Amino acid sequence: MKILITGTAGFIGSNLLRVILKDTPHSVVSVDALTYAGNRASIADLMDHPRHRFVHADICDAARMRALFEKEQPDAVMHLAAESHVDRSIDGPGAFVQTNIVGTFNLLQAARAVYESYEGAQKEGFRFLHVSTDEVFGSLGMGDPGFTETTPYNPHSPYSASKAASDHLVRAWADTFELPVLLTNCSNNYGPYQFPEKLIPVVILKCLRGEPIPVYGKGENVRDWLYVDDHARALLCVLEKGQKGQSYNIGGNNERSNIEWVRSICALLDELAPAQNGSHADKISFVTDRPGHDLRYAIDASKIRRELGWQPSENADSGLRKTVSWYLENRPWWENILSGDYRLERIGVGR
Ligand code: NAD
Ligand code: TYD
Repeated sequence: MKILITGTAGFIGSNLLRVILKDTPHSVVSVDALTYAGNRASIADLMDHPRHRFVHADICDAARMRALFEKEQPDAVMHLAAESHVDRSIDGPGAFVQTNIVGTFNLLQAARAVYESYEGAQKEGFRFLHVSTDEVFGSLGMGDPGFTETTPYNPHSPYSASKAASDHLVRAWADTFELPVLLTNCSNNYGPYQFPEKLIPVVILKCLRGEPIPVYGKGENVRDWLYVDDHARALLCVLEKGQKGQSYNIGGNNERSNIEWVRSICALLDELAPAQNGSHADKISFVTDRPGHDLRYAIDASKIRRELGWQPSENADSGLRKTVSWYLENRPWWENILSGDYRLERIGVGR
């Protein structure tokens, strides 16, 4: 297959691209606008891969997307490009509406145009996989069962509302225009190449720099964490085996409160990179809570396990150890982000 993937210079996209080029014979055309969250350094080792072509483009540019689809004639689409950080969506929701809603609309239209021109096996096999989040389902109470594929949408943040809107567009394009779509709703990911604005890399880098570790509210909020390569394999599994028109929830069966995660990271770093004085946990600092902070997300991933045979291979201890070790071994990657130098590389300076 030739797969067109959006968002490949971001966290999940870069890990997905690496898994696909390593474990499958597929070729990839990858599309990324290199926003603040996109980083060429995350895929530098894949740029010259014979089965990969990187295109620096914005999914909000409808004409560019249309022309790209016409030129590349992809057999499948995996759509990950998005504005993805809840705190940023509170500070500036406009970009979320543009990229997550208008950008998805542009891709659906571009995909629809080529799909309608396809014939035979290429038409039969074409899929548009839309990568979404569990946050569209809203917030759970502590004792509630996890989200299933039929849980009603109830988003609270501008981020989750924009992702919910994009999911609705995708379903409408399936129902109205018979576009063969697949949807996935995944829980919080962690692993290598995650931008240091999300909880896990924030905590690791604060520890390594000896700075206060910001924990929102009392740290009681619960998330279901999944190691990023497990998500990448789930996406491939859905693309290759998922039933047209269906959605699949993806989760790690790994619920933890934020403060539990923070303490685990501090303990691991006490072992791997001890602080000069005392424990890293001494730096934990409870700060003002996020407005509208969802209490708990939890995923019931029984459908993808039962129907497609996917299950995560990492547990919290193994995944966290891999992640912390990666940040320890890849200082230049995050030091360039913290210094802002990666933005120069983004526009080609210093390459
Ligand atoms: P990320 O912010 O790390 O990466 C997003 C990528 O999209 C960046 O490379 C950025 O440059 C690119 N991008 C943004 N706007 C663009 C535009 N207009 N045109 C082209 N490219 C653009 O995000 P992530 O964490 O890798 O998330 C990827 C996808 O997975 C998103 O759709 C997100 O909603 C979804 N998701 C993420 C998580 C998670 O925990 N990170 C969980 C579930 C679902
Ligand atoms: P985040 O990684 O931003 O993901 P999301 O909000 O999409 O779940 O945050 C994960 C949890 O960690 C969330 O409950 C907010 C909390 N958090 C902190 O306590 N401190 C931080 O510095 C950050 C970034 C998040």
